[in-house]
Amino acid sequence: MMNKLFLLICFFLSSVVVAVSGQDISLPAPVTTGGMPLKDALSKRQSVRAYSGKELNMQTLSDLLWAAYGFNRADKRVVPSSQNRQEIDLYVVLKEGIYLYDAKTNQLRLRVKGDYRKDTGTQDFVADAPLNVLYIANMDKASNRDAACTDCGYISQNIYLFCASEGLASVVRGSVGKEKMHQLLQLTEKQEVLLAQTVGFAK
Ligand SMILES: Cc1cc2nc3c(=O)[nH]c(=O)nc-3n(C[C@H](O)[C@H](O)[C@H](O)COP(=O)(O)O)c2cc1C
Repeated sequence: MMNKLFLLICFFLSSVVVAVSGQDISLPAPVTTGGMPLKDALSKRQSVRAYSGKELNMQTLSDLLWAAYGFNRADKRVVPSSQNRQEIDLYVVLKEGIYLYDAKTNQLRLRVKGDYRKDTGTQDFVADAPLNVLYIANMDKASNRDAACTDCGYISQNIYLFCASEGLASVVRGSVGKEKMHQLLQLTEKQEVLLAQTVGFAK
């Protein structure tokens, strides 16, 4: 009985807050149904530039990443992709580190350990929010740069609408620490940091 209770408490704690040891993170399966009616979410979508330090829980993070860039068919995603090149990678910047979102396995692959949120942009709020997403294009996969930028827009709008639906706050950012992130993540010359997006709770 006590063992069961202990396991239940451990499970609850692990799913409540994104508290990780700095290794890869296995996300809980995304919940792919429900949410606010689309027109209500459209009515609420807006950019927010003041964030509380409140953390995102693992389930919300998983749901958000699926809504942004998950698969809704065997090899196709919730967003369209020019010539289906799927050239955008989402890097997830959390307090614990920077991770590559692997939508196939629903995991976050650790790329750099440590808190680099403030380096993802020039605006102060980027350090307060629990999540900044980096949109990084693989130019050797993309049909061209315009297509990669366009593909980013779909992902970004999905995050905006997910946030509106879930009572979260967000802003997409062209002001992103491109050079710093490029160096830190040891990207190749064919990879380009295009945009960033901040997510959290409005202050
Ligand atoms: C490509 C793009 C880049 C943007 N870059 C920034 C940015 O660096 N910082 C920022 O605070 N907002 C940025 N925004 C958000 C816009 O300022 C915002 O969408 C606009 O003011 C309209 O406000 P709304 O989103 O609340 O409707 C960007 C938006 C887009 C589409």
